[in-house]
Amino acid sequence: MNNTIQKVTVIGAGTMGNGIAHVFAMSGFEVTLVDISKDALERALDIIAKNLTRMVKKEKITAEDQEKTLNSIKTETSLSDAVQSADLVVEAATENVDLKLKIFRDIDANAPGNAILATNTSSISITKIAAATKRPGQVIGMHFFNPVPVMKLVEVIRGLETTDTVTQSIMQLAEKVGKVPVEVNDFPGFISNRVLMPMINEAIYSLYEGVAGVAEIDTVMQLGMAHPMGPLHLADFIGLDVCMYIMKVLETGLGNPKYAPCPLLVKMVDAGKLGVKSGEGFYDYSQGVKQKRVSALFSK
Ligand code: CAA
Repeated sequence: MNNTIQKVTVIGAGTMGNGIAHVFAMSGFEVTLVDISKDALERALDIIAKNLTRMVKKEKITAEDQEKTLNSIKTETSLSDAVQSADLVVEAATENVDLKLKIFRDIDANAPGNAILATNTSSISITKIAAATKRPGQVIGMHFFNPVPVMKLVEVIRGLETTDTVTQSIMQLAEKVGKVPVEVNDFPGFISNRVLMPMINEAIYSLYEGVAGVAEIDTVMQLGMAHPMGPLHLADFIGLDVCMYIMKVLETGLGNPKYAPCPLLVKMVDAGKLGVKSGEGFYDYSQGVKQKRVSALFSK
């Protein structure tokens, strides 16, 4: 087993992938960021540079740290080349089972035999992903939270066959990158989304049933429960398609209709209103800031 993790390959240059690359590089690891799209890689490097500048301005890191961090991130469009000498691979590709299984088969075929293969999946079974490889004991969930440079938690998810040694390595590694790891077992939604998503779904039901408006629901949870964002704003931030998908994973995986996504959530996803990323969700983001929106979608 690999106890000296130094080279980390991150698959996927989206929001989670660039955040994960950022935190590993900032903690002195050699990072290779992989994506099939060169544009996505360029965008990711721009975002990482901007987020580091923000940290320099707040005097959390120095300009020298920023430069060192950026210099330790390489980019690559070929997955097989990128994992050749990796000690750890963290997959943060799109949340799609078939895609993830294919990526893990490819990583397994090309990464060194002692490399640990981690996935940032928010809901797909770690055990199922591990079974696509010839090293299920070395496959583990390493679930980061958005914005990755800010959120302290890493949910470490053990698949059925994940070994104690691999789990300990990843727990220690998460601490090395300044995070607080929490170990959980592999069941639908793990702990984070088993608890968070039904709360978001219930907030959407409250809106759907006319109990209160968008701003009122969010204000209750922000000011009454000290949540940094209200649940409807958070749903927009996560992506309404992602929220709906995770509710379906809970519904199917736990076999309980209480987890069915609210019809209003389904309707909004059908309409392409996916939250911040599409410019519109429970709020309007088309002007670059969060604004109230009034829409026929909110009436039954
Ligand atoms: N990179 C680096 N720093 C960042 C950043 C980024 N991408 N985004 C924000 N920050 C920093 C800011 O510089 C600021 O730092 P200081 O405290 O030193 O001033 C701090 O974070 C707060 O940022 P802002 O002042 O700009 O904004 P805010 O106070 O409104 O906080 C927020 C923004 C951190 C996103 C906060 O609203 C929050 O914590 N929201 C909840 C987020 C959450 O729940 N995330 C989990 C989503 S679920 C998930 O990711 C997984 C899943 O499986 C679905």
